[in-house]
Amino acid sequence: MEGFAGKVAVVTGAGSGIGQALAVELGRSGAKLAISDVDTEGLAGTEERLKAIGAPVRADRLDVTEREAFLAYADAVNEHFGKVNQIYNNAGIAFTGDIEVSQFKDIERVMDVDFWGVVNGTKAFLPYLIASGDGHVVNVSSVFGLFSVSGQAAYNAAKFAVRGFTEALRQEMILAGHPVGVTTVHPGGIKTAIARNATVAEGLDQAELAKMFDRRVAHTSPERAARIILGAVRKNKARVLVGPDAKVLDIVVRLTGSGYQRLFMPVLGRLLPAPHR
Ligand SMILES: NC(=O)c1ccc[n+]([C@@H]2O[C@H](COP(=O)([O-])OP(=O)(O)OC[C@H]3O[C@@H](n4cnc5c(N)ncnc54)[C@H](O)[C@@H]3O)[C@@H](O)[C@H]2O)c1
Repeated sequence: MEGFAGKVAVVTGAGSGIGQALAVELGRSGAKLAISDVDTEGLAGTEERLKAIGAPVRADRLDVTEREAFLAYADAVNEHFGKVNQIYNNAGIAFTGDIEVSQFKDIERVMDVDFWGVVNGTKAFLPYLIASGDGHVVNVSSVFGLFSVSGQAAYNAAKFAVRGFTEALRQEMILAGHPVGVTTVHPGGIKTAIARNATVAEGLDQAELAKMFDRRVAHTSPERAARIILGAVRKNKARVLVGPDAKVLDIVVRLTGSGYQRLFMPVLGRLLPAPHR
């Protein structure tokens, strides 16, 4: 893949899954990488792969919920490479649990990482992306940012919020005449560690849910996801649906309006095991 030669790209949550695949694919296409994660072991693995490719890389432990650290990190990355072209706000976590049995802290944690992490990254890097003359913000939402399902209220709320925030940002960049493309990413089921890393409300079997996700939901490889995302960035698409499942679900939601809720409930509602229901 060509097209990112000499560009400086920042990838959060780069120690695993989609973030790791994005970093490697960007490295292969000539980009210089600033990668970060809270999982330093996973991050070291990504750093090694980038070094093997010969891509210039800087790896840092960064928790995307820590705003001051994120702001300082943006300054440090700009200082290190002399410019910043792209940020992939990818770091994210999952949580499963009906609202009735979820704790406030569970819901807040998902919003902190999945929504505020994206806001922190966007705000911290935006001045540098504008200054680069060729910038791009890539914010990872989900198909769960297009429709809601039972048991995913916190994740749905965060991913809908990412979509709202990012779509407004795109319009603002165009209206202001800033040289910054903006893309919202909506992956379907991707074969990553997300469900194994997830937490669940009391009474749910996390391992069982992760097994179900790996077997029945995750069909697209992270490498394929990364190539689809980078293809959309190249074309400065406003929205990218990742995987055939995402495309089909998007069509169903658009055709049925709020009617999708009645359609999805019997199917997706069953994915959560009793006694939760
Ligand atoms: N896998 C899927 O099916 C799927 C579907 C839709 C959207 N997504 C989204 O894609 C993104 C990447 O997820 P993935 O599937 O690769 O999962 P993953 O668990 O394999 O990778 C996520 C990475 O984010 C890191 N992370 C978690 N909290 C962090 C924090 N506070 N600060 C910094 N890093 C943190 C983790 O350590 C991990 O390395 C997430 O935003 C996720 O919500 C994934």
